[in-house]
Amino acid sequence: MRAVLVKDGKGPADNLYIGEAPTPTLNASQVLVQIKAFGLNRMDISQREGNYPPPPGASSILGVEFSGTITQLGDKVSSWKVGDEVLGLAGGGAYAEYIAAYETHIILKPGHLTWAEAASIPEVFLTAFQALVVIGNVKEKDDVLVHAGASGVGIAAIQLARTYGARSVTATTSTQEKIDWLLSLPNGPTNAANYKTEDFAAVVKDTTNGKGANVVIDFVGQSHFNKNIDAMAVDGRMTMLSLLSGSVVQSVNLSPILYKRLHIEGSTLRSRPLEYQADLIARFNQEVFSKITGSEGSGPIRTYIHKTYPWTEIQAAHREMAANKNSGKIIVEVI
Ligand SMILES: NC(=O)c1ccc[n+]([C@@H]2O[C@H](COP(=O)([O-])OP(=O)(O)OC[C@H]3O[C@@H](n4cnc5c(N)ncnc54)[C@H](OP(=O)(O)O)[C@@H]3O)[C@@H](O)[C@H]2O)c1
Repeated sequence: MRAVLVKDGKGPADNLYIGEAPTPTLNASQVLVQIKAFGLNRMDISQREGNYPPPPGASSILGVEFSGTITQLGDKVSSWKVGDEVLGLAGGGAYAEYIAAYETHIILKPGHLTWAEAASIPEVFLTAFQALVVIGNVKEKDDVLVHAGASGVGIAAIQLARTYGARSVTATTSTQEKIDWLLSLPNGPTNAANYKTEDFAAVVKDTTNGKGANVVIDFVGQSHFNKNIDAMAVDGRMTMLSLLSGSVVQSVNLSPILYKRLHIEGSTLRSRPLEYQADLIARFNQEVFSKITGSEGSGPIRTYIHKTYPWTEIQAAHREMAANKNSGKIIVEVI
């Protein structure tokens, strides 16, 4: 089969090319999916650069989310049939014509979602669902703070928070253009702050009459840590998903963590056991999936695609994400 490969095993976007790779073989609980589209994720850039090896047992080909059609079934698969149209999550291997996917890791694609919209859902929505609902335990009338608001995961988390009944959702991002875009979304944030020019903790306190955020979704780490602590309410919960600005904080005052009884938890999705991922996908499918439509749909949660590229332009797609230009998902179609 053809797949996007990385010349020399790692390197800049220029090293991405379409080459030949073995078509995956199935174990008894997997299905073979012919891929129509896959989503780009920040981790793909780290993996391409050689800084994020795939988890043990996963394909070394990039890509963790896809949409496509089932073409073959493993011996023990009974809940799917050849021809089913699906979207799914994988430990790797989505930048390809075919992927071996676990039967527990795919969801039936409804007719109202395009292939690109379907491929934009698995990784970011499952990550946001895990961070906000499973770990952050978001409740009705909570006040929520979501960083990297225009990122794929950020927009998913914002819409989920609104759907779970949050009273306010403050999003942070780096440009007025992204702020304007976020505030124009039907179920977007109620407030937004430019973290480069504003103190987001002050914005959250202003929004919550001084109380602070009950749930914080952070991807930024170092530069935001102390302000996050400041922005959190008593008994606040923060899920840390990434460390985009760095991992070492020079000076931290531990007192508010103690006196505000803060919960701070790190999380990953890709390195979790298959059983954990399967349970998460099943719960997400039951609680959330039917509420998602495309950006022109009427659902309370929508997929927002920044741009769709043919896979012959995979280098340009990676450069667009690396330059932080995307508001929403970057999708690549396999042609
Ligand atoms: N732990 C997990 O399970 C898990 C799973 C999936 C994704 N993630 C992480 O979630 C994040 C979002 O992923 P994605 O694929 O949705 O990414 P994305 O669409 O590429 O968005 C990332 C955004 O983060 C912001 N950013 C970059 N550097 C920053 C910095 N130093 N300080 C503040 N903001 C910065 C940029 O937006 P601005 O213009 O707003 O700065 C950028 O567009 C990534 O960091 C990814 O690694 C974690």
